Amino acid sequence: MALVNTTEMFKKAYAGGYAIGAFNVNNMEIIQGITEACGELKAPVILQVSAGARKYANHTYLLKLVEAALQLYPEIPMALHLDHGDTFELCKDCVDGGFTSVMIDGSHHDYEDNVALTKKVVEYAHAHGVCVEGELGRLAGIEDDVNVSAEDASYTNPAQVQDFVERTGVDSLAIAIGTSHGAYKFKPGQKPQLRFDILEEVSNRLPGFPIVLHGASSVIPEFVRMINENGGQMPDAIGIPEDMLRKAAQMAVCKINIDSDLRLAMTGTVRKYLAENPSHFDPRQYLGPARTAIHDMVAHKITSVLGCDGKA
Ligand code: G3H
Ligand code: 13P
Ligand code: ZN
Repeated sequence: MALVNTTEMFKKAYAGGYAIGAFNVNNMEIIQGITEACGELKAPVILQVSAGARKYANHTYLLKLVEAALQLYPEIPMALHLDHGDTFELCKDCVDGGFTSVMIDGSHHDYEDNVALTKKVVEYAHAHGVCVEGELGRLAGIEDDVNVSAEDASYTNPAQVQDFVERTGVDSLAIAIGTSHGAYKFKPGQKPQLRFDILEEVSNRLPGFPIVLHGASSVIPEFVRMINENGGQMPDAIGIPEDMLRKAAQMAVCKINIDSDLRLAMTGTVRKYLAENPSHFDPRQYLGPARTAIHDMVAHKITSVLGCDGKA
């Protein structure tokens, strides 16, 4: 099977009350760990590449690694998605370069500029069979070089979503309901909360329309502990409780974005391995266990959070 766009995936996920995992990728071991888990569990998957990842690893390297995974697991529907595209040109490059889905994140612009930019990307992408994700509302946290403070973040206004979707023609919409990017989503002692009322209101206004949740890592405590016990310093890293993500997946959320949990799994495992084996210096010795940790973590997400196992 060739790379697919997200149309069928989202239609089935919405109807089935589950979500597709959208995992950020930037090297071979991450792609292998994720796709091996998806192959075993018969789970459809979105592999997503940020502008920073594309700069780091090179568009062609990433595309070829994903094509290799596709060849190994031909029965698994896989989409290759641009995460947080910020310009028309970047989105166009990815459409022209074989991606099957792009996000145009105009959430930093005012509403009318966001509509105009998103519409322009949709027109180009749809003419090439590529799906588009837009964003309304502003998440806190760090993406690439942009750091949005909690004060500058804003929840999605449900009164705008119909107008935005109708005027832009987007295929899915990322909304802000209290998740945030990175490993520090809540303060210690703060009760994690998401605005499920906003999600509910959005889905009432857009029946059957796929919603996307960014900043949806649970910041798995086991990996935070592993990092802190092996020379790292990530005190007070806290994520979204998994039961909340599960609830969102059963509602209108069809795509759940996970990057920080991959980073933590990889870094924690590498730190522990090197601390326990100070004389080892072959990268395969520490990247192998890191890849296994990513595989196991993704398998856990698929079965316990996303509910997309067996849906390929
Ligand atoms: O939403 C942001 C993702 O975690 C990607 O992060 O831009 O540092 O690659 P990055
Ligand atoms: P996390 O930082 O919670 O993994 O979010 C990733 C994300 O939203 C990528 O777009
Ligand atoms: Zn994001």
